[in-house]
Amino acid sequence: MRKVKVAIIGGGTVGGGVYQALANNGELIAARCGYSIEVNHVVVRDAGKKRSVNPPREIVSTDWEMAISDPETDIVVELVGGVDEAYRIVRRSLEMQKPVITANKALLSLRGASLMKLARKFRTHLYFEASVAGGIPIIKVLRESLVANRISRVYAIANGTCNYILTKMAREGRAFDEILSEAQALGYAEAEPSLDIDGLDAMHKTGIMASLLSGYWVPERSIYVKGIRDITPIDLEFAEWLGYTIKLIGSIKLNENRGDWRNPEIELSVEPMLVPKTHVLASVDGVFNAVFVKGDVVGEALFYGRGAGQDATASSVISDIVDAACDLHQEYERTLAPFEAYAESAAILSHEHSIANYFIRLEAINRPGTMARVTEILARHQIGISSCIQPENHDGETVPLMLMVDRAPYHVFKKAIRELGQLRVVRSKPVYFRVESFAD
Ligand SMILES: NC(=O)c1ccc[n+]([C@@H]2O[C@H](COP(=O)([O-])OP(=O)(O)OC[C@H]3O[C@@H](n4cnc5c(N)ncnc54)[C@H](OP(=O)(O)O)[C@@H]3O)[C@@H](O)[C@H]2O)c1
Repeated sequence: MRKVKVAIIGGGTVGGGVYQALANNGELIAARCGYSIEVNHVVVRDAGKKRSVNPPREIVSTDWEMAISDPETDIVVELVGGVDEAYRIVRRSLEMQKPVITANKALLSLRGASLMKLARKFRTHLYFEASVAGGIPIIKVLRESLVANRISRVYAIANGTCNYILTKMAREGRAFDEILSEAQALGYAEAEPSLDIDGLDAMHKTGIMASLLSGYWVPERSIYVKGIRDITPIDLEFAEWLGYTIKLIGSIKLNENRGDWRNPEIELSVEPMLVPKTHVLASVDGVFNAVFVKGDVVGEALFYGRGAGQDATASSVISDIVDAACDLHQEYERTLAPFEAYAESAAILSHEHSIANYFIRLEAINRPGTMARVTEILARHQIGISSCIQPENHDGETVPLMLMVDRAPYHVFKKAIRELGQLRVVRSKPVYFRVESFAD
């Protein structure tokens, strides 16, 4: 049996999970892959801290430089999180020609392109299965299992915190802030929740998937991002009436530019969308994640599972450790590199030009003529209305007015929204969400 030695840098939630799962299932994994995987270092910031997983003292340290430069260390696993220190750890390991595994989507999103180049330069690899959708092996699926396909669409529910909040709001009719506090108390949301609820974590994951699909490292600033803070129970209630639910979706549309896969056109966004209740993504509830993929050969496929958590994430990290162990004994050029940028360029469509149907909610004064003013603005911008609801028996000076409008380019739609917000009869900032039919 061949042996590989692994240094785990970061012994927190995921690092602890990796250590524990290797301790529990190491023999089975070795029987399956032919490698005995031994953890020779676990590096933390505070070696005296109380932990739920406690590796033997002699392998725990606070010096990552020592752990990765140990000549016995074959593979480095970066699980410290953050960007700067993680970048130094990954860069240093790659420079030493040691394969690196990371679950760090923030790092990949910002520095992925340069780290991939570095890995190539030093003829080693950077693996990142756990960086997208935790326990769902979606990176392997997109790179390997679906290699035969021109993939034109990916829609992902990639943030469990947002999905948990939206599911609870829809089921219980309670406000965003209340459910967020509850999620924080239960440990489903961070004390500082903006990375999740403002869509940035989903942006990192969507960018990584878009890069794999297009063969071009997509800069994160090119992704339109809108979080879930504006959503109210009334939006979910009326979406339900209309046959929809609201989900935070990372959307990737890939169109070949004049049929040339070397120069694709990519349309990307992370935003709350109205999803038809008949669509399979509408039933992905709670902290679960799902990635819906359309390929020209496979057709439609859905990948569903736990997007975070100690064990689910450890499962993906260990799959990368096994890949790295196998690759160590291959000729470098013969292994399927974890990411090979093959597209020469990519035209990333500005969100201003992306075309969609929208749901609009206005708080409007309940008096004759209000509707006429609203429809006049939409008509002037050539935006058609497909349905309109104003609930009866609503108390107060204003009433919610909900509209579903037909396909419009975002820059046109935005102008109409601005004008609607300036109407005297409209009393608060208009709220709007994209409506996705998944038809094209
Ligand atoms: N948690 C999840 O469900 C999940 C899911 C998917 C991906 N990820 C990604 O996995 C990575 C790790 O997340 P996590 O939840 O495991 O984080 P975590 O619980 O905060 O653990 C981080 C670990 O890194 C150690 N550390 C931090 N800075 C260090 C330094 N300079 N030198 C040595 N050790 C250092 C910490 O030491 P101390 O313990 O002494 O503080 C801790 O053990 C992140 O990139 C995250 O985005 C996490």
